[in-house]
Amino acid sequence: MVKVLTVVGARPQFIKEAVVAKAFQEMGIQEVLIHTGQHYDANMSDLFFSDLKIKQPDYNLGIGSGSHGYQTGMGIMRIEEIAVKEKPDVLLVHGDTNATVAGALAGAKLKIPVAHVEAGLRQFPKDMPEEINRVVTDRVSRFLFCPTLLAIENLKAEGITTSVFFTGDVMYDLFLSVRQSVDVGKICSRYAVTEKSFFFATLHRDFNTDHPERLRAILEAFAEISQHFPLVFPMHPRTRKAVEANDFGHYLKLVTVTDPIPYPDTVALLSAARCVITDSGGVQKEAYFAETPALVMMEDTGWRELVDMGFNTLVDANKEKIVSGALSKKAVSEVSTGLFGNGDAGSRIAGIISEAF
Ligand code: UD1
Repeated sequence: MVKVLTVVGARPQFIKEAVVAKAFQEMGIQEVLIHTGQHYDANMSDLFFSDLKIKQPDYNLGIGSGSHGYQTGMGIMRIEEIAVKEKPDVLLVHGDTNATVAGALAGAKLKIPVAHVEAGLRQFPKDMPEEINRVVTDRVSRFLFCPTLLAIENLKAEGITTSVFFTGDVMYDLFLSVRQSVDVGKICSRYAVTEKSFFFATLHRDFNTDHPERLRAILEAFAEISQHFPLVFPMHPRTRKAVEANDFGHYLKLVTVTDPIPYPDTVALLSAARCVITDSGGVQKEAYFAETPALVMMEDTGWRELVDMGFNTLVDANKEKIVSGALSKKAVSEVSTGLFGNGDAGSRIAGIISEAF
């Protein structure tokens, strides 16, 4: 039986893991799960495990918050110990967080083939932590599972052409299955909004939260937008700390601020919103799955095809662009099918791993 050691640590990885774990189970692949503990609040972690029916981790490292060096270094040490003991055939990592790069480096140095789910994404600025994590992880991976054709092109441009697979995006698989079962109207009423008459925003990137001028510009935009339409804003713990430290709470007087929300609620609100405003890689793409345009508060994005198609718009931390983008009634282009695969990325990944051993 093929044995996979999987590393997760942060919220977007729990979402991706839900799909891969199910496919492994269906294909008879044994999976041992490590949670680094990078995200530890109940509404950032436990809730996702229960809502998405992910098995409890076999190992919880409890590493928690800290500097990049601390999170990555502790991750490498602890994952290495477990990998030596478990002797997996493959070490699997998701996405671009510190848990991803820690798992990839631990596996590669032990000569365990590393599988990277969501390989090949690239964006500017090149010194953002997630971009560093992506480049390093792809460099040492043995299986590169790409969500889009652009990701394959990005790898090719860096000379990485072997063991590169177009699988489609595991987040698309999950979105489709959850979208079928959520009651959008009921969830909207829980947040006191009605379909197509509110905005949905998320904000957590360090380049926005940790620079007071950028954070102020974004929050001023939120304040202005919320004078016209309800704005639902589940606040990431990093952002909450930055808002408090800068005493910016007054910008959010009219905004519906919540704690981080469950995945089914996110799916429903993304589907019902007029427009999404975000700096999250996952949310800008899920907005597209939901056929709702997104304003992306980044200088560049790993999901560039959505901007090139005219579906999403880059607004960086520019107040005017955020406000005018949100309040203008821009016609959006059609959702094109197949861009993120066919909703079977999880079983493709399991199939490729199963065939290789
Ligand atoms: C991390 C990932 C990012 C991903 C994001 C999703 C890295 C470099 N970044 O960013 O790619 O998009 O997760 O959320 O790995 N905190 C809590 N409770 C929690 C989790 C975090 O209070 O459950 C606080 C921490 O104390 C810390 C801050 O939030 O001060 C940031 O957490 P961290 O895990 O370092 O980075 P994220 O911004 O969450």
